[in-house]
Amino acid sequence: MDRIRIIGGNKLHGTIPISGAKNAALPLMIAAMLTDETLILDNVPRLADVAQLQRILGNHGVDIMAAGKRPGDHEYQGQTLHISAKNIIDTTAPYELVSKMRASFWVIAPLLARMHEAKVSLPGGCAIGTRPVDLLIMALEKLGAELSIDAGYVVAKAPGGLKGATIEFPKVTVSGTHVALMAATLARGTTIIANAACEPEITDVADCLNKMGAKITGAGTPRILIEGVAKLHGARHTVLPDRIETGTYAMAVAMTGGEVQLSGARPELLQSALDVLTEAGATITVNNDGIRVARNGAGISPVTVSTAPFPGFPTDLQAQLMALMTRAKGASHITETIFENRFMHVQELARFGARIQLDGETATIDGVARLRGAPVMATDLRASVSLVIAALAAEGETMVNRIYHLDRGFERLEEKLSACGASIERISG
Ligand code: EPU
Repeated sequence: MDRIRIIGGNKLHGTIPISGAKNAALPLMIAAMLTDETLILDNVPRLADVAQLQRILGNHGVDIMAAGKRPGDHEYQGQTLHISAKNIIDTTAPYELVSKMRASFWVIAPLLARMHEAKVSLPGGCAIGTRPVDLLIMALEKLGAELSIDAGYVVAKAPGGLKGATIEFPKVTVSGTHVALMAATLARGTTIIANAACEPEITDVADCLNKMGAKITGAGTPRILIEGVAKLHGARHTVLPDRIETGTYAMAVAMTGGEVQLSGARPELLQSALDVLTEAGATITVNNDGIRVARNGAGISPVTVSTAPFPGFPTDLQAQLMALMTRAKGASHITETIFENRFMHVQELARFGARIQLDGETATIDGVARLRGAPVMATDLRASVSLVIAALAAEGETMVNRIYHLDRGFERLEEKLSACGASIERISG
């Protein structure tokens, strides 16, 4: 298994190109199943999760072609996928595939909407909590589907097609909103999604669906209105930049000091995180090419932050912020409100000498002057990258094990960081 070796202590200087957003690319690829014409997606990041979803969609008969590089293409440019779900040959998503990636459960929406049936394995637990799918099931039932659970599978049928309805989510859910939105595009009549998630990835998917002929208004607000249409057609869409990758590298620069241009980043996608970084002592400047992050001289100030749905501070940056706060001058408090068990990084950060106490959903971090490199590993994507951030500022060598998780969500992480002066290398085998 590959590992990453980091020798800490170098400041970061240079430019990091920001990739397309994983959490938009995945639902966009799934949305391609709503039409029998070709959906072309540009700026798709080269990630293990994208490759895994390609395999899963292939199982349903979806044809995906990755366009080759053209002269003049930048080496970091994401790939262009041509996705054709002309013939859906299988409406079952088996356990072996769904259990490898939770988001693949969302294929239930286009399968039901277009084929009027689906049999999709329940995804099971995951490292960051129980993560149920009850609200996704509720949304599909509101749209007229009949659902039952049989031997670990959700069996769903809508013999006469889905019907528009009002779906009110009791809590904000990204997965629930994606599934309701996709399913409602082909439902007869009007659907209202109330208390919808406002995450930029939802807006990106809605924009793409509208290009495909859907009639969606209000995406990006808590109330989305969808007028169902009989058919969707092909389209071309560019995946929006990854706000979590942007925030992660911004935290890395705040941690090490230095100055880095995050090329292609869009500040409005992560304003709350940029505000927290400014409070912590970083200087953030917005320019035509993206965002410039610097920390020169000033130390890291402690902050008090709670995660919240968009536009609040994202849970997907909580671990990275905690890594940064391990070196703050004073005590920070970070509360996780979205997932009940997203603190696996705490024990691993302690291996660097960090002082963190957990009390329910709140972590108190007493900043220390020095971290020391150590062998570490983590069991989820964002926790893994928080260890990289700690390692960049730790004295001596850190070996990050099980980097499979990093490859799921960060494109060419070690190349992007070493181009800015970090001492970081992948060790194969
Ligand atoms: N929830 C329910 N019932 C449901 C669905 C969700 O109780 O039927 C709960 C969850 O257990 C959680 C909360 O509602 O406590 C929010 O879950 P949500 O549905 O919003 O999360 P998700 O769609 O499963 C996506 C991202 C996550 C990100 C969260 C929150 C993708 C592929 N995943 O997950 O990203 O943390 O939204 O913003 O878009 C990651 O990229 O590392 C990652 C975990």
